[in-house]
Amino acid sequence: MPEKRDLVFVVDFGGQYTQLIARRIRELKVYCEIVPYTATWAELRERTPRGLVFSGGPASVYAPGAPRCDPALLAGEVPVLGICYGMQLMAHLLGGKVKRGEKREYGPARLTVIREDALFRGLPREIPVWMSHGDLVEAPPPGFLVAAATSQSPVAAMFDPARKLYGVQFHPEVHHTPQGKEILAHFLYEICGCRGDWTPASFVAEQVEEIRRTVGSARVVGALSGGVDSTVAATLVHRAVGDRLTCIFVDHGLLRKGEKEDLAKTFHGLGIRTVLVDAGARFLEKLQGVTDPEEKRRIIGREFIRVFEEEAARLGEVGFLLQGTLYPDVIESGTQTAAVIKTHHNVGGIPADLKLQLLEPLRWLFKDEVRRVGLELGLPEAIIWRQPFPGPGLAVRVLGEVTREKLEVVREADWIVTEEIRRAGLDREIWQFFAVLLPVRSVGVMGDERTYAHPVVVRAVTSEDAMTADWARLPFEVLARISSRIVNEVPGVNRVLYDITSKPPATIEWE
Ligand code: XMP
Repeated sequence: MPEKRDLVFVVDFGGQYTQLIARRIRELKVYCEIVPYTATWAELRERTPRGLVFSGGPASVYAPGAPRCDPALLAGEVPVLGICYGMQLMAHLLGGKVKRGEKREYGPARLTVIREDALFRGLPREIPVWMSHGDLVEAPPPGFLVAAATSQSPVAAMFDPARKLYGVQFHPEVHHTPQGKEILAHFLYEICGCRGDWTPASFVAEQVEEIRRTVGSARVVGALSGGVDSTVAATLVHRAVGDRLTCIFVDHGLLRKGEKEDLAKTFHGLGIRTVLVDAGARFLEKLQGVTDPEEKRRIIGREFIRVFEEEAARLGEVGFLLQGTLYPDVIESGTQTAAVIKTHHNVGGIPADLKLQLLEPLRWLFKDEVRRVGLELGLPEAIIWRQPFPGPGLAVRVLGEVTREKLEVVREADWIVTEEIRRAGLDREIWQFFAVLLPVRSVGVMGDERTYAHPVVVRAVTSEDAMTADWARLPFEVLARISSRIVNEVPGVNRVLYDITSKPPATIEWE
């Protein structure tokens, strides 16, 4: 079926920056999807793409088993931009000369533009670019012109205007190539003729229509976590089918202070029908005596599903289960199985015998796009910028056995950390901040009395995507206020520590 909006495919050769290429293209308001290099032109053509971008990749075109694409992709039916390995493969397949790298060119380089008419219109003659390659193109294929060079790469960019084939050895998708976005924009707008029609408003309009069509007169059930993904997904579906959506919010008793009340208020305000299940006692009972972190997670996960199932069954006839699956999950499953453009089902442990069809309206979005869609739907900023919170909640922040008393301690300490970081105006720039209660005790003195109580660890990290993180350089005054308030206001705590470990080697959470 031809697309209603412009579409570009990013053909993945296993490069570390493939997702970044896709995100940059989307930021330029052009819709794109990542497909594995095994995709054939016959498959891709059906979706009438405006162009293709070949990603980088770790291989050498000469390595046995090096990824190769269907040569028909390069036949000139649509414009192609090859990046790094993508350009080398283009050169290799079309009769150019690729030289085995003697030494890697890695890091910043100065690119000299030889022909402006390729991708560099309006840019200076010399621009900084980011390089990361071993092999290099020594001579372009017949029909190609050299468009730019660096001191180490005689062909740092090449193009064939007749077939609209373009290649760049450097990485336009990374921030270290400051004009990279302009270069990509030239390719998308001038060469492929894209119009920039990928916007949150167009996504919302289209999805609402599609959800209505898919769901028909059936009913939808969704699990709410209070996180931005499940909230945006629910709001979108609610706009499409109204009261035929019911959300279930399982309170496992492991939430932060005021969280349940906040969520109930928000969802009431949004007019979304929500069932609140108070299951705290049930979770605590199951967690009694359990100290192993993985066992704690398993118990909470299992119990969560049981409660959800019971409630869903109580609702009676339901046809669809709403999931907040995002595009990175879809890509992962897609490339692992080398399946082309196939929907991935992130059931998150919800059992198959629930006999519900999955509804995943966010499955084509990156996280930043989910936030923009949320704003488009009119969700409050407090929800859009909510910090991530683990499914097992405070249970993984009470190290060792979880008890009602310990939960109370960590909840109060967490509240103080949150208040002080907000008061200092740092809550947006810090990815996550929270308190952890340790199962050891140390000696202290308070008033004239000896104390023998638990320490609380304060954790605050900066991060882009939680894959890596660094400890936040909180001002000493903020740390001092947090420490003094915790020991004074939270009974059972006599010491406060600040975690100064990055991820890796630590993780963000302590369990
Ligand atoms: P770690 O501790 O592995 O955490 O560095 C990375 C990110 O994931 C969050 N996290 C979870 N989120 N269910 C979730 O939904 C979980 O079981 C879970 N465990 C960790 C964590 O808060 C951080 O943002």
